[in-house]
Amino acid sequence: MTSYIAAIDQGTTSTRCMLFDRGGGVVSSDQVEHRQILPRAGWVEHDPDEIWANTRKVCAGALAKADIVASDVEAVGITNQRETTVVWEKATGKPIYNAIVWQDTRTDTIVNELARGEKGQNRFQETTGLPLATYFSATKIRWILDNVEGARKRAENGELLFGNMDTWVLWNSTGGPDGGVHVTDVTNASRTLLMDLRTLQWDPDICAQIGVPMSMLPEIKSSSEIYGRFRERGVFGGLPIAGILGDQQAATFGQACLSPGEAKNTYGTGNFLLLNTGTDLVLSENGLLTTVGYKIGNAATVYCLEGSIAVTGSLVQWLRDNLGLIGSAPEIEQLASGVDDNGGAYFVPAFSGLFAPHWRSDARGAIVGLTRYVNRGHLARAVLEATGFQTREVIEAMNADSGVELTSLKVDGGMVVNELLMQFQADILGVPVIRPVVNETTALGAAYAAGLAVGFWESEADIRSNWAKDKQWDPKLAQDRREAEYRQWQKAVTKTFDWVE
Ligand code: G3P
Repeated sequence: MTSYIAAIDQGTTSTRCMLFDRGGGVVSSDQVEHRQILPRAGWVEHDPDEIWANTRKVCAGALAKADIVASDVEAVGITNQRETTVVWEKATGKPIYNAIVWQDTRTDTIVNELARGEKGQNRFQETTGLPLATYFSATKIRWILDNVEGARKRAENGELLFGNMDTWVLWNSTGGPDGGVHVTDVTNASRTLLMDLRTLQWDPDICAQIGVPMSMLPEIKSSSEIYGRFRERGVFGGLPIAGILGDQQAATFGQACLSPGEAKNTYGTGNFLLLNTGTDLVLSENGLLTTVGYKIGNAATVYCLEGSIAVTGSLVQWLRDNLGLIGSAPEIEQLASGVDDNGGAYFVPAFSGLFAPHWRSDARGAIVGLTRYVNRGHLARAVLEATGFQTREVIEAMNADSGVELTSLKVDGGMVVNELLMQFQADILGVPVIRPVVNETTALGAAYAAGLAVGFWESEADIRSNWAKDKQWDPKLAQDRREAEYRQWQKAVTKTFDWVE
């Protein structure tokens, strides 16, 4: 009998369920978008109940599209937008506030207060691998406890639970108030600013300093083991949930970046470049994050250096939704192809401040270099180029931290179908850019983690042998042009600093 592995991918803009076969091929996929709730400038929320309802819908959808039943599936993996924070009532499963999304900057005052000491933004870097920034979960939890009436007291009494989206989906899938499993994996926990990267446990001192009661935190487990089973009634009734990886770590795993020195760049809402550093934990001196890459069962923990860019694909959506300059995201390529270059315009999309390598929450977006000559096509090009330039900034930081020059870049995610962008990426980096046949590496990575736990795949060698190249872009731009363009970009970036007082 043929059997499959399912992966639930709870992302920033949508929730998906995908079914994979033993060769890592996609059997079916179902996807539903959810609302982006933007109550004020800089605030971004999701409705956790809407997301849970969508999760059930897409699981049923993926089964129906493949024309199979739950018993044809051996195990389920979960991957998720990381850092996004939900706090809910243990007794009812009711969220006490909307999920505060990773892009949300409302906690910048809390962050600035915490960063006042001698080590500044690096106060917790030695333990957590992360700088103090609005990006991570800890200050979002603190904000909810400070701002929802009675929440802190209730949390201290053990009435409230915290989770990222992996935990929210897992807890609900396994029974919710009726015995739901309150667990997260090491990769998600490493994005909260509360976990000690070496012990893989919550750090009591940091929790106390930030003001997060430990009783609300989930138990931390590996990325590949059976955490629990879907409740009997319901779409995946009785199936084991056997893998959890934050979405970028899942993509790293799905791209078979399994040896030190291998890296991938995912082009989603934002861009996330992860370099496998093996069992060595490398603390960045250049604005990158140290994060857990994965931990397969009892095997040693694998760490990564990560360059996180907040806004790349979401800038194309912004051009579509807020400006109406294009009717659909793919149209940007056509518009940008109508001109030869950016016409002198540079677009720095610091919508959530700037993440790696700058970590400036005071930055806001800017378009610079405008003249009367600049038209819609040039702007479309500047939007795409922003993704390429930001990626180069992160790669330069990575080369400096690791002491090794990257010689090629594996890519995946929604934007890699854009040929113009991929060529620009190769041009501005000066190294080849390589796309795999299965571009759905995020869901695939979570499926691998689950499949390894139940013996569907035997070892990481299966992951390597399933990986295959689809296309490669080689750099064509002359070196002097490449450097001149990049210098202009760097100048443009400085124009976005110190905007928020
Ligand atoms: O850290 C945020 C990241 O996990 C979100 O990824 O693909 O949902 O934009 P994505």
